[in-house]
Amino acid sequence: MAKLVINETNTLGKIEPELYGHFSEHLGRCIYEGLYVGENSEIPNVNGMRTDVVEALKEIEVPVLRWPGGCFADEYHWKDGIGDKAKRKKMVNTHWGGVTEDNSFGTHEFMELCRQLGCKTYINGNVGSGTVQEMSEWVEYMTFSGKSPMADLRRENGSEEPWTVDFFGVGNENWGCGGNMTPEYYGNEYRRYQTYVRQYDDNKKILKIACGPNVDDYQWTDGILNTLFRYRPSGQPLLLDLLSLHYYTIPGPDWHHKGSATQFSEEEWYNTLKKALYMDELITRHGAIMDQYDPEKKIGLSVDEWGTWFDVEPGTNPGFLYQQNTVRDALVAGISLNIFNKHCDRVKLACIAQMVNVLQSVILTDGEQMVKTPTWHVFRMFRHHQGAQLLESAVTGVSETGTEEYMVPEITESVSCKDGIITITVNNLSMENSKDLEISFAELKNPEVIEANILTGDDVHACNTFEDPNHVEAKAFEGCCVKDGKIVMDLPAASVVEIRVK
Ligand code: AHR
Repeated sequence: MAKLVINETNTLGKIEPELYGHFSEHLGRCIYEGLYVGENSEIPNVNGMRTDVVEALKEIEVPVLRWPGGCFADEYHWKDGIGDKAKRKKMVNTHWGGVTEDNSFGTHEFMELCRQLGCKTYINGNVGSGTVQEMSEWVEYMTFSGKSPMADLRRENGSEEPWTVDFFGVGNENWGCGGNMTPEYYGNEYRRYQTYVRQYDDNKKILKIACGPNVDDYQWTDGILNTLFRYRPSGQPLLLDLLSLHYYTIPGPDWHHKGSATQFSEEEWYNTLKKALYMDELITRHGAIMDQYDPEKKIGLSVDEWGTWFDVEPGTNPGFLYQQNTVRDALVAGISLNIFNKHCDRVKLACIAQMVNVLQSVILTDGEQMVKTPTWHVFRMFRHHQGAQLLESAVTGVSETGTEEYMVPEITESVSCKDGIITITVNNLSMENSKDLEISFAELKNPEVIEANILTGDDVHACNTFEDPNHVEAKAFEGCCVKDGKIVMDLPAASVVEIRVK
């Protein structure tokens, strides 16, 4: 039997709501069709944003949205996306399918989407092919309330009041698609660009995000931080608030064989989960380098691209990165979110890639149809961790499970407390075996389960299709009860479970 021991008297730090963030790029059908259909669409919308999708996203309490990319960000020129839509400059989206981008979704539309979602804004600026002036003017356009050329232009375009930019990314993947830079070169560019990301309103600090490493590129992390910390005149504030980390769970051996999203063997199940678990090591090791420069942990890690990346759905445009989403994706989400919670001392932001119709999406659309994926259900269950205090917890009595090559722990978990309610999220990683689990508390002798939900499937390959949209969904978990002051259950195989206790 596995035992989860919770010390509810020991809080370990706040789980920032932004750990549950999302990413939306001008890629495939994420923005166009997925989120934005335009004011004249027959698909019900408010100011162009499709109503069904916005309503579904509100249910998972999206805390922050990153835009416009991704690789697209370093090719995006924001002035092309403002003003009269009929006159907006068109461009070729060279990264993603070579399609024509008509720029009908731009800054005003993004801010409107965030307004409807009630979420924070994370704008990613262009370093790779943009200028310091362009970036500086964008910030002025969005955030300056006084009279200035850019603020006046914003008013001309219909927005009297400035918006709040909560996070600003200075470039994306500048080691790759964002300019193929070295850490030292980017570090120096970052120093310059970020200087002109001006703070126009003292009450709304724009948190600056520097481009961090790809996966296990520890040299990049050290190189950037060295460049940013090396020369610091006394009194100079920190030049960055967060450093990004991008890591995708890709089961296949290379980019041409990433593996099918829906057809996978037992071996691939465990390989995928093992790769998702690797996030823990990445955060620990990049965090250790950050500790050398920033022992007080003033700089957050922003895992602003994570999730599964499989071969595209057969018959779809390879440049659109459209994939289905199964119980396996739910497990990857549950594993990753538990890892972020446990590292909330350093991880301050995370964005799953991507919100709709691209990679590990929470929503899929087809014309006027929409489905919530198994990953959506995990975000819905885990939303109770947002803004909560992480509690000390440890699980014993678990062994490893899997295949000879790919072994994973049977169970992963995290626990938090908010408003007197303890939220426990547990994953059973075994593809076939259930596991007896007993949960006990340091002082809580009579726990009351106020809610328990489970996501699992009749088959681990199960997914939600437009024909059968509710095939996989979280349901009330009847299988847990309180016995002698402990919560006991038989945790079904391949499941993600949320239990709320007071
Ligand atoms: O999410 C798809 C792409 O993956 C992003 O554009 C890029 O930043 C990353 O390589």
